[in-house]
Amino acid sequence: MPITTRLSVPGDERVLHDLADRTFGLACPPGTTQADIDAFVATHLSVERFAGYLADPGRILLLVSDGDQPLGYSMLVRGPIADPNVAAVVDGATSIELSKFYLAAERHGSGAAGELMTATLTAAAGTGAATCWLGVNQQNTRAARFYGRHGFTIVGVKRFLVGSEWHDDHIRQRDLSSPDGSGSGGS
Ligand SMILES: CC(C)(COP(=O)(O)OP(=O)(O)OC[C@H]1O[C@@H](n2cnc3c(N)ncnc32)[C@H](O)[C@@H]1OP(=O)(O)O)[C@@H](O)C(=O)NCCC(=O)NCCS
Repeated sequence: MPITTRLSVPGDERVLHDLADRTFGLACPPGTTQADIDAFVATHLSVERFAGYLADPGRILLLVSDGDQPLGYSMLVRGPIADPNVAAVVDGATSIELSKFYLAAERHGSGAAGELMTATLTAAAGTGAATCWLGVNQQNTRAARFYGRHGFTIVGVKRFLVGSEWHDDHIRQRDLSSPDGSGSGGS
C-alpha cells in the first residue's frame, strides 16, 4: 500500500495514543526506567490528552500511514516559549515547535519518516512561521542524523523531565522558507 500523510482530526486520539505508547520510549536514553516512560505516557500522551491536543487551535497533528495502518505521528505547537533556555535562542513570535515526531520501530529506515517530515514542514510553513524548532535528546544519534539531514541545526541545549530524571536535549532549528532549511533558497 502507498505511504500517505494527513492532518489528524478529532476521533484520531486513540490511534495517536497507541502510537505514542509504542514509540515514546524509543526516544529516551538508555537507562530510562519503564516506570518513568509509562508515567510520562499516562500523563502527557493519554487518549484524553490527545483529544485535548486535537481540539487546541494552537496545535497541528499529522499521521503517516501505510494503507489503513498508522505508522507514525507528529505534532506542531504554536505559541509563547516557556523554557528559558529555548527562549534565549529561538524567537517565539516567528518560530513553531515540532513537539513530537515518532515513527513505529519496524518502519525506521523505510522512508516513511521522510514523508511525515515533508508534510510536517509544509504544515509548519503554512502557519506563516519563519522557522521550526525542536528539542531532541543528546544521546538520540539516529534522530540527530535524521533531523540534520532535514536541515535542523543545533542552536542550544535544554533539559527535559521524564518521570524523576532530567534528560539533556539539543535545541535544533531550521528555516522554513527554503527546501534545505538554510534560508538561502535551497541553493
Ligand atoms: C527519528 C526517526 C523519526 C527517524 O526516522 P528513520 O526512519 O529512523 O530515519 P532514517 O532511517 O531516514 O535516518 C536515520 C539516520 O540515522 C542513521 N542510523 C540508523 N541507525 C542508526 C543507529 N543505530 N545509530 C545512529 N544512527 C543510525 C541512518 O543511517 C540515517 O542517517 P543518514 O541520514 O546520515 O543516512 C525514527 O528513528 C524514530 O521515530 N525514532 C524514535 C522516536 C524518536 O527518536 N523521535 C525523535 C524524538 S525528538
